[in-house]
Amino acid sequence: MKTVYVFNGPNLNLLGTREPAVYGSQTLGDVEALCQQACKEFGFTLDFRQTNHEGELVTWIHEAGRAQAQGQAAGVILNAGAYTHTSIALHDAIKGAGALVIELHISNVHAREAFRHHSYISPAAKAVMAGFGVPGYALAVAALARM
Ligand code: DQA
Repeated sequence: MKTVYVFNGPNLNLLGTREPAVYGSQTLGDVEALCQQACKEFGFTLDFRQTNHEGELVTWIHEAGRAQAQGQAAGVILNAGAYTHTSIALHDAIKGAGALVIELHISNVHAREAFRHHSYISPAAKAVMAGFGVPGYALAVAALARM
C-alpha cells in the first residue's frame, strides 16, 4: 500500500477559527478525517502532518522523496501556507528530493492579495490546486490515484 503524505505549513493548525470567511469552519482534524476517508477509498495509507517551521517541511519533503524513490509513496499534497510565497528552500527541497508534489491551497490565492499570487512551489510542483476549499484535499488524493 503506497503512502500519501499530506504536509500542512504555518497557521493551518488554526483552521476552524482562523479567518472562517476565507478558510471555512472545518478544523485541521476534519481535514485529516477527510483525507483518511479518501485514502481508504483509493487504497492508500495516509501520513498527515502540520508544522509551523519551514525547516521541518524541508526535512519532511526529503523523507517523502526517499519513500517515493523506494516505490512506497504516491506523492505529497503540500499546503505550505505562507511559505509558498517566500520559500526558495521548499522549492529546492522538492526538486532535490525528486518528490511528486501537488501544491494545494484552500483559498483561491489568485483572487486575493497580490503577495499571494507568486508561488515558489509551483515551478517545482507536478500540479497546483487552489480555491476548492477543504474538499480540495480529497480531490488531490483522487488526483494522486490517477497519476
Ligand atoms: C493558503 C494560502 C496562503 O496564502 C496562506 O498564507 C495560508 C493558507 C491556503 O490554503 O489558502 O496560510 O495556503
